[in-house]
Amino acid sequence: MYRSHTCGELNTANIGQKVQLSGWVQKIRDKGFMVWVDLRDRYGITQLIFDENRSSRDLMEKAQKLGREFVIQISGEVIERESKNPNIPTGEVEVLVSELNILNTSKTPPFTIEEETDGGEDLRMKYRYLDIRRNPVKNKLMFRHKVGMEVRNYLSQKGFIEVETPYLIKSTPEGARDFVVPSRMNEGQFYALPQSPQTFKQLLMVGGLDKYFQIVKCFRDEDLRADRQPEFTQIDCEMAFVEQEDILNIFEGLTRFLLKEVNNVEVQEFPRMTYAEAMKKYGNDKPDIRFGMEFAELNDLAKNKGFNVFDQQELVVGIVVPGGASFTRKEIDKLVSWVKRPQIGATGLVWAKYNDDGSLKSSVDKFYSEEDLISWAEATQANKGDLILVMAGDANKTRTQLSALRMHLGNELGLRKADEFAPLWVVDFPLLEWDEETNRYHAMHHPFTSPKKEDFALLETEPGKVRANAYDLVLNGNEIGGGSIRIHDKETQAKMFDYLGFTPEEAEAQFGFLMDAFQYGAPPHGGIAFGFDRLVAILGGQESIRDFIAFPKNNAGRDVMIDAPASLDKAQLEELHLQVKL
Ligand code: AMO
Repeated sequence: MYRSHTCGELNTANIGQKVQLSGWVQKIRDKGFMVWVDLRDRYGITQLIFDENRSSRDLMEKAQKLGREFVIQISGEVIERESKNPNIPTGEVEVLVSELNILNTSKTPPFTIEEETDGGEDLRMKYRYLDIRRNPVKNKLMFRHKVGMEVRNYLSQKGFIEVETPYLIKSTPEGARDFVVPSRMNEGQFYALPQSPQTFKQLLMVGGLDKYFQIVKCFRDEDLRADRQPEFTQIDCEMAFVEQEDILNIFEGLTRFLLKEVNNVEVQEFPRMTYAEAMKKYGNDKPDIRFGMEFAELNDLAKNKGFNVFDQQELVVGIVVPGGASFTRKEIDKLVSWVKRPQIGATGLVWAKYNDDGSLKSSVDKFYSEEDLISWAEATQANKGDLILVMAGDANKTRTQLSALRMHLGNELGLRKADEFAPLWVVDFPLLEWDEETNRYHAMHHPFTSPKKEDFALLETEPGKVRANAYDLVLNGNEIGGGSIRIHDKETQAKMFDYLGFTPEEAEAQFGFLMDAFQYGAPPHGGIAFGFDRLVAILGGQESIRDFIAFPKNNAGRDVMIDAPASLDKAQLEELHLQVKL
């Protein structure tokens, strides 16, 4: 028997018992006459003691040869500790070892395997299996498991069934590039890995399955960020005979259930905001509403006052930094430089301080009277002691830039509290989005999304104004999920492909199977997918998803542990009918 107990469970109730433990040597303290070892496993740490008065000489010598991360198995007696450690559950006892088995030795690990590590990101990723032994990483993986179990419980209980859909498919257009897999048996042809199971879940609705879910890997060849991985996991769902309201209710229920079960947080009914409102108020379709700092448009108050930097611009818009009047000149200059960085790309930032004594001072005093500035303060709802920051330019660009500044300030001022949860539904997304590069419209969500009935006529005249039955769930400024009510008849779907610039032949070649299926009694249907990694990270109080994934890729899309991607040998390439310049 390797173990009678785990390293996390012994306490004073076990004193006097003979036990067996197995685990890794975390720490050794060798005083010569006594050796203490911290033995670690998944469940905790138990202190072992070897004592020259109570242990054989052989055993003492063996203990003194142990190294960090050796895997050992011991037998011994649980005794009370002399100096107790109140910080760990096993801190009142130790095990006086009578037998020691070295199950495996270990090279000296490249970084310390403790709560805090001296290992940098690259090193930790190269030796991820060692990193996983550390509590912070292990706990995140266990947390992920818990969230996954709760999701399965909730959805199963609501009548959803989990169905697996294939990974070797044909490209589905969701806006990113596909990862492709060459086919050995079909020369010159490729599978694509799914960016999501979108078309399959719709086909399951045609198949009558009614309520489907799947916790499923998706693959997207896109630029990576803290909240993006090339392979990630979705909680993917689809339902038949539903309207938008039904879907929002079920998935609001799921989110509320998770917040309660996992975080013990009760949240009220989720607020809803249209896409247009979110863009106007926050410059962002995934606003963090844990803090205010809403946009105030100042066109009427700031244009045509002799400051020609503003006069020519489409939009002049401001936000208030609570308590910001106390910022020093240096601090404000830092913000100005921050928005001028190429990543943000603003041309400048105008500021006005609303001092505690009621006076106003701005960077544009030459052009604006105190009265003008008071009108800005009223419009932005600034109070005494606040700072008003103003940007101007092309409306969309300026909103995006000011939104970035708002988030930056939210972080800097500690307004984005990890233990506060502010969910939000953003609804009525535009159906189409103009793409400057290709000079045509793209589906903002995906081409299977249905336009709102009342906007249908606009498709001919002002396609950019057509709203879709599409919605996103936003949590603390992160897009957790998105979905839509789908088109379920062939004519509308064909029309949509036409608007998106597909010829009938291209639409048929790529999506003939779906449009065929629509002709065999496709029910009205819709769905949603949550980003599981993101959801888990945010419930866990973080925004980077990497540590919640056992084996993540780095920013260049590489797995540095197994060293992938890698080249193939010539024979394998030939078998796959591929020619690669080596
Ligand atoms: P969408 O493309 O909005 O919708 O994706 C759903 C959610 O998946 C998460 N997500 C990601 N997470 C980590 N890394 C990535 N690279 C990544 N890309 C997306 C986000 C996002 O909200 N088929 C539709 C859903 C539907 O219409 O039902 C879809 O995939 O949290």
